Amino acid sequence: MSSNPSNPQRTVAILGNGAVGIALAKGFVAHGFRVVFGTRDVNGAKAREALAAVPGARAASFRDAAQAGDLAVVALPYAGLREGVEAAGAGNLAGKLVIDTSNPLDFSSGAPQMVLGFSDSAGEIVQRLLPEAKVVKAFNTITAAHMVHPSLPDGTPDMFIAGDDEDAKLETGRILEAFGWRRAIDMGGIAASRLLEPLAMVWIEYGVRNNHWTHGFSLLGQKK
Ligand SMILES: NC(=O)c1ccc[n+]([C@@H]2O[C@H](COP(=O)([O-])OP(=O)(O)OC[C@H]3O[C@@H](n4cnc5c(N)ncnc54)[C@H](OP(=O)(O)O)[C@@H]3O)[C@@H](O)[C@H]2O)c1
Repeated sequence: MSSNPSNPQRTVAILGNGAVGIALAKGFVAHGFRVVFGTRDVNGAKAREALAAVPGARAASFRDAAQAGDLAVVALPYAGLREGVEAAGAGNLAGKLVIDTSNPLDFSSGAPQMVLGFSDSAGEIVQRLLPEAKVVKAFNTITAAHMVHPSLPDGTPDMFIAGDDEDAKLETGRILEAFGWRRAIDMGGIAASRLLEPLAMVWIEYGVRNNHWTHGFSLLGQKK
């Protein structure tokens, strides 16, 4: 999946420059990709922090980043999801793999609460906003700190993914394996984000109850 001398260097647009955007940007850079962060303010504190953390990356508007990317990652808070994805522009991401890491959480009461479920999901919102992009839900059920090389004390976890495009899911699986995951587990079309987003709450709730943040999911007894 990596860019290497026999493969022209590919650019990944990372829409969002928080903990998730930075963690995945580091992973992509380590695998030979160019990174361009999409941000609301290229000179803002968040963008500057991200650029300092990921040498070689640059920051651009959401639109310019989306245009520049051969593929994209959505790493935006739910409160800014529509705004950021709309600003990126459906036309700029048409035909491209778009990995959506987001969870539909509201933090206004302090503790995170799911604000979607059963009949819709953030993954489906992203796909509706980008009808010609190949949206794959992934990386939403682990903390940013373990998105790349998630080697946990008792094993290497699996990542559940969902998306409508088979090739896009295969590419996401290659990215996950390059990033050190045991396996990408395909849960079906993008509507399966309705299952994967609440699974993030299981991860969060376990962390809160135990004040422990280094866990991950693994599916035992998988079909070979
Ligand atoms: N943090 C984790 O460990 C983790 C793990 C799994 C999944 N997730 C999910 O991944 C997504 C990204 O998480 P994160 O923690 O990296 O996000 P974050 O730090 O809250 O936000 C990322 C960036 O989004 C930009 N942004 C655009 N519109 C915004 C708005 N309306 N309000 C606030 N910020 C806005 C901000 O950059 P500018 O100001 O430069 O525009 C901000 O730095 C979320 O949906 C989260 O639920 C997070």
